[in-house]
Amino acid sequence: MWHQRLLTLPSRAKWRAYRYLISRVNVPPEPAAVPGHLSHLEGQFLYRLASRVPPGGTIVEIGAYLGRSTSYIASAVARRQNVNFYTVDTWQNQGMSEGERDTYGEFCANVQPWKDYIQTFRGFSWEVVKQWNRPIDLLWIDADHSYVAARRDVLDWVPFLKVKGWLCLDDYATAAGIAQVVRDVLLPICSSRRLVGKMWAARLARPLDRGGHPALRR
Ligand SMILES: C[S@@+](CC[C@H](N)C(=O)[O-])C[C@H]1O[C@@H](n2cnc3c(N)ncnc32)[C@H](O)[C@@H]1O
Repeated sequence: MWHQRLLTLPSRAKWRAYRYLISRVNVPPEPAAVPGHLSHLEGQFLYRLASRVPPGGTIVEIGAYLGRSTSYIASAVARRQNVNFYTVDTWQNQGMSEGERDTYGEFCANVQPWKDYIQTFRGFSWEVVKQWNRPIDLLWIDADHSYVAARRDVLDWVPFLKVKGWLCLDDYATAAGIAQVVRDVLLPICSSRRLVGKMWAARLARPLDRGGHPALRR
């Protein structure tokens, strides 16, 4: 089988082969036109993961901004039956270099083609999680990149992620806070780890035990 042969390749060749496979994912062209900082390769990867969520499954995005990653995910959800997609954002642009402003109108206009496949929660992630009670198959975190905020998002939301579910964090390669959260909290509990562009992605190998390591305590 091709994927068994892929595993036997040396790591650099494995990564090149993997990157090639991601780039072959047949994403419809519309999401690439939505403004945002996500690269097309990262969008293709999210599309691919969203396409593999089982029927009845749940995808959660934390940090939608103008809807670029939202569109990649929603365009995969639109081709599926019965996959639930929730996106959480204040739409007040916290943590963005351009400063705070209301981005909700632009978001709604950009995701208009997929609006029937997106359920929005407007508010801070740590407030929204208080009403959350569903298991999650794919969790995509791209909100505040400071260590304190990203760690809080991980500690709040990863307990809802199913074992073997996928977790993606943007800007691992460029934001020190994200890289530190990955090292402190996620490395010991994740498998199938990979870097796609600047995004870190992995599968949850075992549930997050907040009582264990000091870094996992709130
Ligand atoms: C980097 S942008 C998201 C980019 C988006 N994923 C894309 O593909 O273009 C970060 C977003 O997170 C939101 N945000 C920051 N902190 C937040 C928090 N604690 N709760 C909810 N949203 C937050 C900001 O309003 C902003 O829209």
